[in-house]
Amino acid sequence: MLPLYIIGFMGAGKTTIGQKLSQDLHIPVFDTDHLVEQAEGKKISQIFAEKGEPYFRDKESEILLSTKNINGIITTGGGIILRKENRDFIQTTGSSVFLKCRIEKIMERIEYDTSRPLFVNKTLDEVQALYESRLCFYENTAKFIIDTTHLSIDETSYEIIKRIK
Ligand code: S3P
Repeated sequence: MLPLYIIGFMGAGKTTIGQKLSQDLHIPVFDTDHLVEQAEGKKISQIFAEKGEPYFRDKESEILLSTKNINGIITTGGGIILRKENRDFIQTTGSSVFLKCRIEKIMERIEYDTSRPLFVNKTLDEVQALYESRLCFYENTAKFIIDTTHLSIDETSYEIIKRIK
């Protein structure tokens, strides 16, 4: 059932898996962060710095609503589940998968990343606390959960396709 929303924490591999699924299933993929950047003509980090997080969250929610009739995959920003309206929308529109991944693995992947404003200058404890505060939202919103901690990109795509077919 489409659209298929891919949700999860920063660095969980949502964009990579979205692209792989798009290739495997021959359907288009759209990314909410990318759509916000296109609409605003700015990078996410610039939007956060110049206009603040609440402004970004408003734009992110608007973009999410605009994906309702897309026959494809929608990869989302890690904070999309913070607003109840977004969680309700994802639950009632198409299908959704939570890419669950252990925080240690996520930290390995995004350790040197400077493009994520909510990650830059944060300690491991702070990122872990953010992850834990969001976990129940991801788990309760998605139709199904795939633990990707020990899965390759191909294996993750295979598992998702099995679940949606
Ligand atoms: C955010 C995650 C980012 C991006 C923004 C905020 C978050 O997307 O939307 O930096 O609040 O977790 P990714 O999950 O693709 O990194």
